[in-house]
Amino acid sequence: MKRVLALGPRFRGENGGLELPIDAGHSLSMSLAAEAAAPSPPPHAAADWTIDQSWDAYTAAEHQTWTTLYERQRQLLPGRVCDAFLRGLDVLDLHRGGIPDFARINEELVRLTGWRVVAVPGLVPDAVFFDHLANRRFPAGQFIRRPDQLDYLKEPDIFHDVFGHVPMLTDPVFGDYMAAYGRGGQRALRVRHLHNLARLYWYTVEFGLMETADGLRIYGAGIVSSKAETLFAMDDPSPNRLGFDLERVMRTPYRIDDFQQTYFVIPSLEVLLEATLRDFGPIYDRLEGAKDIPIEAITPSERVFTRGSQAHARSEKQRRAEPAAG
Ligand code: PHE
Ligand code: FE
Repeated sequence: MKRVLALGPRFRGENGGLELPIDAGHSLSMSLAAEAAAPSPPPHAAADWTIDQSWDAYTAAEHQTWTTLYERQRQLLPGRVCDAFLRGLDVLDLHRGGIPDFARINEELVRLTGWRVVAVPGLVPDAVFFDHLANRRFPAGQFIRRPDQLDYLKEPDIFHDVFGHVPMLTDPVFGDYMAAYGRGGQRALRVRHLHNLARLYWYTVEFGLMETADGLRIYGAGIVSSKAETLFAMDDPSPNRLGFDLERVMRTPYRIDDFQQTYFVIPSLEVLLEATLRDFGPIYDRLEGAKDIPIEAITPSERVFTRGSQAHARSEKQRRAEPAAG
């Protein structure tokens, strides 16, 4: 069975997605050595890893892939995604004619929040990614998935990055959050707490839910750009849906190979921004001594929107353990 792989951050976060702290066993000199050996950009990329979008080079089939994905998601989203996302989608007019031209999107985006989209070939080093965010540049993959990959993809492509992330960047509060996150990422790299901060990105920017007067709504790009995870995150009885708590989130590992077992619900973008503008220094200190919280655990006294059955995770685990039946 095909499974939608979670489309994660454009940075390594937790050691390339493995659930290992990236600083396990590293001395400072080792991480400095690793930094010195950081990969240089491919030959056709600039020093900041950006490339031309080369919009004219997309084929008719590639534009069609965008349109197919766009229409499929657009129809699922009303009643499931937050208003800010839908407003952003409308303002940017992302279905105008296949794959959007960044030059055109940027006119509107810069006017609204000062953000712009820049094209990159694929994953970029952490420090490069954070520098872009801190300067209100969102790095987006230039390529689009193949037609046989509509539901299955390991590396974020232009549909995930632009359809999933860019509408929220039209919202001033979310735009401020992402830029602050870029600065926070630079700091987390220095103080070697990126594994904690990556979880915040994962459970907000990629897989976040929001409480609204009309019920829970999606704002995370990893959900919104996936048909299957949109349905799973909103409608399935399997996952936990818990109230957002900053430190709790930073102690919770995540799934990169399957749907999330737990989603965290923010009361509003304003509350998210306010909670994260605090100085994380003392939090990082406390996290040194704190254990991770098991991925499906519900801790006493936290706010529970849904106590998940975890049926999906359990059946997947069993399926993987069993030899394929004929
Ligand atoms: N306030 C955080 C710090 O002191 C930075 C941050 C802001 C991180 C917003 C994430 C999101 O490190
Ligand atoms: Fe993403």
